[in-house]
This record gives sequence, structure tokens and C-alpha cells, in this order.
Amino acid sequence: MLFIGIDLGTSSVKLLLMDEAGQILRTASREYPLIFPHPGWSEQRPGDWWEGVESAMAELLNGADAGKVAGIGVAGQMHGLVVLDENDDVIRPAILWNDGRTDKQTAWLNEAVGKDRLSELTANIAFAGFTAPKILWMRDNEPEDFARIRKIMLPKDYINYLLTGVHACDVSDASGMLLLDVKNRRWSGEMLDICGVSPQWMPRLYESCAVIGTVKSDVAARLGLPEGVRVVAGAGDNAAAAVGTGTVGEGRCNISLGTSGTVFISSENFGVDGNNALHAFCHADGGYHLMGCMLSAASCNKWFCEDILGTADYGAEQSGLDDRLGDNRVFFLPYLMGERSPINDTDARAAFIGMTMDTSRADMVQAVLEGVAFAIRDSVEVARALGVAPERSMLCGGGAKSVLWRKILANVLDMPLDIPVSEEGPGCGGAMLAMVGCGVYGSVRECADAIVKVSSTVEPDRTLAAKYEAQYAKFRTLYPALKDVFKGLKL
Ligand code: XUL
Repeated sequence: MLFIGIDLGTSSVKLLLMDEAGQILRTASREYPLIFPHPGWSEQRPGDWWEGVESAMAELLNGADAGKVAGIGVAGQMHGLVVLDENDDVIRPAILWNDGRTDKQTAWLNEAVGKDRLSELTANIAFAGFTAPKILWMRDNEPEDFARIRKIMLPKDYINYLLTGVHACDVSDASGMLLLDVKNRRWSGEMLDICGVSPQWMPRLYESCAVIGTVKSDVAARLGLPEGVRVVAGAGDNAAAAVGTGTVGEGRCNISLGTSGTVFISSENFGVDGNNALHAFCHADGGYHLMGCMLSAASCNKWFCEDILGTADYGAEQSGLDDRLGDNRVFFLPYLMGERSPINDTDARAAFIGMTMDTSRADMVQAVLEGVAFAIRDSVEVARALGVAPERSMLCGGGAKSVLWRKILANVLDMPLDIPVSEEGPGCGGAMLAMVGCGVYGSVRECADAIVKVSSTVEPDRTLAAKYEAQYAKFRTLYPALKDVFKGLKL
């Protein structure tokens, strides 16, 4: 049997074909546009996602043994609001996880409803990127469209709907809506009430490896799939990446350097960060996890290289930097889309600080990579203060392909980083969930134990880690000094 993992990301959709031993036989991907209608806002057209899936699927299956495909698992960018009307047509572009327009609604939830109450109901407080504040934003700003809503979906659930005709959601992704009673893995009736959401608008909830249906015949014929391919509920991309890197069970850690940067700590039992700085979500393995999410990680490097320097040759920009790590006098604050964890500030902005006439292009490229690593450390520090930070971590995501960035991160965190054989964490996780759904493995943990392999480990170096310790201490002073300046820059 073969399995397809679909990673519905922010810059592209990535598909992979996996065999039962966990070997990736083929991959295909398609990019789609990200729309910024206003500074700090971020949208995508769900139709573009589907076109990307269709077109990448044709490439994935071209020449493959498509008749053997038994299951599909989709991992998706979390928190995005997809709204459907009575005909299941998309009402407006999806508002994404890194969109910061919901300041007012987020403040209302945290202050009027109250953080304690929110945390009691959902195990989390409101962050601008979560789904519930976006629903309230639509109600406040687009009342006519709001009145047409009949279904609320997350990005990957829209793909699952087009594949199967079923409105479903899994508990890991649902956790990021601020509408789920995370502890009990069911919708919170009270939160739906608070947000003016009818329970009928909500998709049915499943565990991530549960089968929600099979690919519809007409869709299967169009995509080149056999009849009867099972589709599992799938997972939020971070939970799927955790499955794909073996971050399951108690106390394991995965760091993802994708468009966003996340620190994901798995746990068998439900637990909440008392300050709600880390999200407390359901895991795709049947347990729970804590997570910190920075909004712009690998996207900072992409932005600086492609949009500012005008090159996509990241390797060339990074060559020669290896010998000069730890001494950079230029710092970069990576808040291109504001920031979520741990500072929770939609007004924060990116900045280069400390430049002089002899500052070089290389200093700035290096500062971007280091600034992202420091911001990831901010979330690791929260976990350390809670006493839950593991001593080593898996590392995945597009940014993890850079050997230099791995080294910077391992030394900034002073932590060994294990690199999995495939850095395609979410796609692997999606395919693995499908294997469990199709009965190849008895549980997600069994599947991860059997399949996930570490290809190499990046050990921190004592001298470099000490240099980065001093650099991090400087980095930590920058945002507090600029916080009010950023507020003043607000449009
Ligand atoms: C997690 C988050 C991001 C997106 C990126 O809370 O918002 O990691 O899931 O796809």
C-alpha cells in the first residue's frame, strides 16, 4: 500500500508519496500567492490551494503505482478562517494564522470575557492569529458576509471537504480556533455562544488518524486515484510535523523552521502554561502538547534574500559565514508580521539594529538567521522557566535544510538538534496518520517508533554557545526598548 501526505503550507502545498516502511518515493509541490491587503493582514484564496493540490497530485502520480494508494492525510497551516455559504461556496478569502487585524476583537476576548475564563474553557487565551477573533472581526466589519456563513473550516479541512464531501476537523487543528474545550477534546458550547457561532456551522470532530471518508469517485477519477482511497482527519501542520519527526508521547521536542518558527513539546497528559504564553493544544497522537509560535522564521530569510537582495541563491549568501559566527555586531528583530510567542504584539515590527559604515551584506544575512534563532530561544526560555523544556530537539522545516542555520540554532539554544531523514515533517506526519487510519500500524506512536529515523545530530560547541549566550542577552534588550516606538508607528 502507498500513502499520500499533503502539507498545505503558507507559501506552497507539498505532496509526498510514502510506502509502508516510511520511505518517501516521490514529492511534488506548487506555490500559490499570499495576499497582504493591508500591512499586517494576510490572506489566501482557498481555490488556489485546491488548484495547487490538483496540479501537484498529477505530477506526484505521473508514472507512480497510483493503484496502490490506500490513504491520504492532510496537514495544514493552522488557525486560518475559511467560511462557506449554504452551497458550500467560499464567501471570502481565508484570513491566515499570521494576520494581525483582530487587535480589537482579541482585546475584547482577553479583557471583557477575560483570560481566566478563556483559559478555563479552552486552555488558551486569545491571540490575534487564532480563529475566534477573526470570526468576531467578520461579524464587526463584514456583517453581510457574516450573515451568509453556514460552515466554518480550517484550511486543511477545506481540502478534506473537496476530497470527500465531508465537513470534518481534527482535534489538534481545532485547538487553535479558541473554540475547543482542549482538555475534553470537544467543541466548547460556551465559547461558540460567546462568539455568536452556531454549533451547526462547526465541522464534526475526529482524532487525527480517524478516517472521515473516502475520496469521491469523480474527484478520484480527476486526480488519477483508485476508488476507495481513505482520507483521515489529518492534523494542524505542527502536530503533523511532530508525528513526522517522532515527537510523540511524553516530553519530546520538535522545532520547526518553516514560514513560522515553532517549538513543540509533546505530553501524554493535559497541562496548561499558567501564563498562557505557550499554547496548550491536543496532539495528533491522542495526547497533548505545549507550543510557542513565532510568526516569521524562514520567511525572514526568504524576504531578505529574495525581496531585498534580489536572489534566491540562499547557499551563496550563507557561504563563508561559518567562520564568523558569534561576533556579529548587527542584530535583527524578526517581527515582519508582528509577533505571537512569547511577546504577543501585533504592532511589533522587524528592524536591523547596530549597523555602521562597515556593515556588510554578509553581516545582515547572518543577523537575519541569528535573529530568528534568538526569537525561537525566547519560546524555549518560556518552556525552561516552566520546567518542561527537553534537553534536545528534532529540527524540521525548509530552514532546517541550511547546515549553517542548524549550527546557529543549536548554539543559540545550547541544545543538540536531531535532524530527521526527511525535513518534510508535516507531509510525513500526514502520510503516517493515513497509515494508522488504514490499519498498517495500531497507533500513531507505534508508527512513529517504526518509521522515524534521525540522519544526523548537530551538537552545540562550548565556545560558540558561550558567545551566543552573550549575544542573546543583548538581543533580549532590544524589543523592550522599541516596544513603544512600534506602537507609535502603527498605521
Ligand atoms: C501555529 C501557527 C503556524 C502555522 C503555520 O500556531 O500559527 O505554525 O500553523 O502554518
